[in-house]
Amino acid sequence: MTQDFSAIKAADRKHHIHPFSFPKIVKDRPLKRFITSAEGIYQIDENGHRILDGISGMGCVNLGYGRKDIVQAMSSAAQSLSYHASFWECGNAYSAKLVEKLAEITPNNMQHFFFANSGSEANDTAVKMVRWFWKLQGKPTKKHIIGREHSYHGMNMMTASLTGLEVCHQQFDLPMEGVSHIPAPWSWAAGTSLDDVAFSKQCAQHLEDEILRLGPDNVGAFIGEPMQVTGFCIVAPVNYWQEIQAICKKYDVLLIADEVVTGFGRSGCWFAQDYLQYEADITVMAKGLTSAYFPMSVVALNKRVGQAISDDSGEFYHGYTCTGHPVGAAVAMKNIEIIEDENILQRNREGLIPQLTHRLNALADHPLVGEVRGLGSLLCLQLTADKTTRAFFPEAMEADAIVAQHALRHGAIVRNFGADTIGLAPPLVSTETEIDLLADIVEKALDDAQGQINAM
Ligand SMILES: Cc1ncc(COP(=O)(O)O)c(C=O)c1O
Repeated sequence: MTQDFSAIKAADRKHHIHPFSFPKIVKDRPLKRFITSAEGIYQIDENGHRILDGISGMGCVNLGYGRKDIVQAMSSAAQSLSYHASFWECGNAYSAKLVEKLAEITPNNMQHFFFANSGSEANDTAVKMVRWFWKLQGKPTKKHIIGREHSYHGMNMMTASLTGLEVCHQQFDLPMEGVSHIPAPWSWAAGTSLDDVAFSKQCAQHLEDEILRLGPDNVGAFIGEPMQVTGFCIVAPVNYWQEIQAICKKYDVLLIADEVVTGFGRSGCWFAQDYLQYEADITVMAKGLTSAYFPMSVVALNKRVGQAISDDSGEFYHGYTCTGHPVGAAVAMKNIEIIEDENILQRNREGLIPQLTHRLNALADHPLVGEVRGLGSLLCLQLTADKTTRAFFPEAMEADAIVAQHALRHGAIVRNFGADTIGLAPPLVSTETEIDLLADIVEKALDDAQGQINAM
């Protein structure tokens, strides 16, 4: 017998301000989905329907839902040390083990780590670290941070400012001072005829121009997601990150890699920097660190930045109540241990990633699909109204939302990011059969959406 959730749903609609939702719609209409449990790669709704989660929650539930081994690690840590503050030169065994492990698996031999609770907090902390670092170098004017259009770095005042999506600025009079955005390396929208190497040079040149416009003495860092996710799944062309890294080095501007989504296996390597072969000065991680069983994020510093900061004799006036939470650290350790023990990175490189890529590439001929792009198991279908001219559908049509609705009707969650993009990032533990099912559903959803769009 299914449980009746109508009273509790009414309470939710009356009292809950949902993120990235229209409060009035929540108040006036039924919720789109009401999920009561989840297991493996499936979310289960109030009517017992199992919905295949093709986007790992929000690109975070990398090891799937309801894993007993993670729950066990969480429960045993909560029983032995449910909380501890790592403020005031204090430590605990859980976060100590985690930093030791992170030093082993992070790129560029990162040696220093700071914990926060979300990607937003970690990026915000990274900006503070940049300012502190440059002050320690006797260069206090190096404060400006350059980001990119369409990027997503979080929703705090600073990180929303760094986010290059105008919709996230208007309501709050952002961006704040000290932030600017250069064009994203979005070859589809640019309609470029340049090859990857030439397009990379052209895109990276925007960074050099912006540094010179501001004056290198005023620029603290450049921040970028290895692959822009929320902002339309933009994959940088080959060589882009090498060009960017060279420009940052030339003008002594720190490079921040926002690996909140791409970290912990999404690329088939621990970090997208390993896969793309570049090295940031600061790496920000969250989501896949704990597979979202616990809210936890990390700012990792390379030797140069970490050494300067850890050699400073002044106090670091920054931290959050739950920084380095022992339960979060235990979950992260177990999460990493599972990735290692189950050989998930290699299995993904040899199985899930080629299979998903192959299945989605086969959809490139579909009349609605202009391009298939991605990084590792984070893939995107770029829909188009015209394959030749690369025309976007009228914005109000929300073509990507139509596809996502049909996918849901067929039993899978995919993400409509806007700008006619459909994103897929299934849990890294998805089986071959589940990936085939997901791809079959996407194909059906495209056919249905095409019928609906043609009839409009
Ligand atoms: C690349 C990137 N950075 C930062 C964030 C912000 O993370 P959080 O929502 O945990 O604050 C996100 C969230 O989706 C993200 O995708």
